[in-house]
Amino acid sequence: MASTVLVSLISILLLCITITQGRNTLYTSNQFSASSLVSTNDGICKTMVETQGYTCEEHKVTTQDGFILSLQRLPASRSGEKANKPPVIIQHGLFSDAVIWLFNSPEESLGFILADSGFDVWLVNGRGTKYSTMHTSLTPNDKAYWDWSWDELASYDLPASVEYVYNYTGQKMHYAGHSQGTLMAFAALSQGQLLNMLRSVALLSPIAHMNQIPSIGTKLAADLFIANDIYWLGLREFNPNVNVGAKFLEDICNTLHLNCANLMSIFTGPNCCINSSRIDVYLDHEPQPTATKNLIHFSQMIRTGKIAKYDYVDQAQNVQHYGQRVPPTYDLTKIPNELPLFLGYGGKDMLADVQDVKVLLNDLQDHDANQLVVVFMPDYAHSDFTMGVNAKQDVYDPMIAFFNGY
Ligand SMILES: *[C@@H]1O[C@H](CO)[C@@H](O)[C@H](O)[C@H]1NC(C)=O
Ligand SMILES: *[C@@H]1O[C@H](CO)[C@@H](O)[C@H](O)[C@H]1NC(C)=O
Repeated sequence: MASTVLVSLISILLLCITITQGRNTLYTSNQFSASSLVSTNDGICKTMVETQGYTCEEHKVTTQDGFILSLQRLPASRSGEKANKPPVIIQHGLFSDAVIWLFNSPEESLGFILADSGFDVWLVNGRGTKYSTMHTSLTPNDKAYWDWSWDELASYDLPASVEYVYNYTGQKMHYAGHSQGTLMAFAALSQGQLLNMLRSVALLSPIAHMNQIPSIGTKLAADLFIANDIYWLGLREFNPNVNVGAKFLEDICNTLHLNCANLMSIFTGPNCCINSSRIDVYLDHEPQPTATKNLIHFSQMIRTGKIAKYDYVDQAQNVQHYGQRVPPTYDLTKIPNELPLFLGYGGKDMLADVQDVKVLLNDLQDHDANQLVVVFMPDYAHSDFTMGVNAKQDVYDPMIAFFNGY
């Protein structure tokens, strides 16, 4: 049964690829035209932060592999009081960017809440998202621009951003990440990186093991990415908003007879607490594109349950990249036991599934009990942690209390 669905979906997919091929340039949405590059007039500071009465600075950070990331800093509270607490660096998840921390009201959005709590707030935009499309030698039209997965986000984007904030402020910082932003931290921390620059680490909807995700939509997407990896790698960029990306997601929900009007809940779970009258504002900014290689890497995690580097499948290529035939794994038991960790997870989350989080907690079983705070929200799905109207009282306030301890 499942394989029949798979075969028919692959046929649909190949058909729509044929149809769209003629007019398919993935950039027709002017996503990457010069006008969408960061400038002081249309960046996140001007459009999302200063409009709410906060001071904001735009920063640029270049990674070791040449990507130029934009960071926004909120150095003071709304009332203009300069931050009197350490920096907090916030890392968004897959298909998202820094706007996710700002787009509800200032009373509901983590970026503003942290600034009003006295922290020096730094928001990162990952490579390939709207405000981080620049590179020292490549453009998003170049194939090589999209040759990365979360391995590179962990080994280049994350250290560059954290080091930049550390250099600029001269202070160790707190880290807060959501979803892919937690996976980046797990990968780096398990290899002993960043530790000298971090005070504590907060992980919302933690993504580590992905073996048991209950979303049939996500599972099918993962199967399709792996079955057609050559095709997807050829596309380089996956933009859920346009052409092939949008069609792919629509085909999945049609094939599974799901309600396509709510693509987000098909993939993230039934979010309890999102303000439905702000969905339009959300859709103005998200979802953001990512590399198809990144999605194949996630698909490999879903299939194997392992947290390992990207598998080139071809053993010779693995040897070339890693010096061994199978990709090296990230060993989360190596995260130092004394590192202060805050974990927030939800009972309805279909990406950071409860069963998978239990495997993660098992990895952390030797962690110092008084350096590990776990908050479980039975009603929360994946996006409630970033967009929930109650997230302040449910998650952010406990997280701030945790930060205040370090
Ligand atoms: C931070 O400072 C060190 C030492 O000066 C320098 O080597 C490094 O490149 C800086 N990192 C960033 C991201 O600015
Ligand atoms: C939901 O969004 C609307 C439109 O922005 C806003 O007027 C309302 O106050 C929001 N409700 C909550 C609970 O945040």
